[in-house]
Amino acid sequence: MQKLAIGMAKGGVGKTTTAINLAHGLALNGKTVLLVDCDTQGHCAKFMGVTAKHGLYEFITGHDRHGDPVQKMECLSSARHNIFLLSGGMMLVELTNWLHSHSEGKERILNQRLNPKEGMVDFVIFDCAPGWDILSVNILSTVNDILCPVGLEAANIEGVKDYVKYVDSAKQVNPDLNIKYILPTMFDTRTRQSHEILTQLKKRFGQIVLDPINKNVKVSESVGHKKTIFEYSNTSKGAQDYQNLVKRILSNGK
Ligand SMILES: Nc1ncnc2c1ncn2[C@@H]1O[C@H](COP(=O)(O)OP(=O)(O)OP(=O)(O)O)[C@@H](O)[C@H]1O
Ligand SMILES: [Mg+2]
Repeated sequence: MQKLAIGMAKGGVGKTTTAINLAHGLALNGKTVLLVDCDTQGHCAKFMGVTAKHGLYEFITGHDRHGDPVQKMECLSSARHNIFLLSGGMMLVELTNWLHSHSEGKERILNQRLNPKEGMVDFVIFDCAPGWDILSVNILSTVNDILCPVGLEAANIEGVKDYVKYVDSAKQVNPDLNIKYILPTMFDTRTRQSHEILTQLKKRFGQIVLDPINKNVKVSESVGHKKTIFEYSNTSKGAQDYQNLVKRILSNGK
């Protein structure tokens, strides 16, 4: 089982788009995926057109908002063939408060409770929220590997440097943590800015910088249609880019 957090403190860089398309690409390759939405925006369910009764809050706390017990299996939604979703949404505000209410070990609660048995799923993918809070730290105590999407549209290098500092601070809780991949996103081949930021990323991070995901209208449209890029436009540049990413992850970065 491989666990991967799609994380970056900056918003709107393609974390959720990457999480759902990577999850679906892996599922289409016969892998079983648990997709965990860690964002109050609840975008994984929205982008995939899934209605979820329960999700990550109930899974972790063991009860619903009224305190009635909820079984773990009731929290999983079938998002696609081979994809189980633990949905996010506004209940994660409550989850954050609940985590804070623990006097000891509050950084590791997710790690203890979200513990799929070896063999149950092939991949666990966490779609992280922008920003940084106790839930972010809990996710990074659960995974060792982070895939960090970086938009090539604005001066995002500073954002990555900040995120590296956050990750370094989380190493106090999980010393094995590392940024395994940097994924350049929103690559616009026509702009000098895109090329410049890509060059800077390669200079700073070297081999862990993956091939970029191009800015592609089919990718942005797919979300509105509640489809993954493989369902919405399987021949698009966006689908090719995400298929390329899927291959790289399947070969474990090689
Ligand atoms: N390769 C792409 N080409 C064009 N549009 C894209 C691409 N990737 C993502 N988008 C669009 O950019 C917007 C932000 O993407 P997304 O929601 O995945 O980012 P995010 O990092 O998860 O944002 P947040 O931090 O708010 O959770 C969405 O409208 C999405 O459709
Ligand atoms: Mg998101």
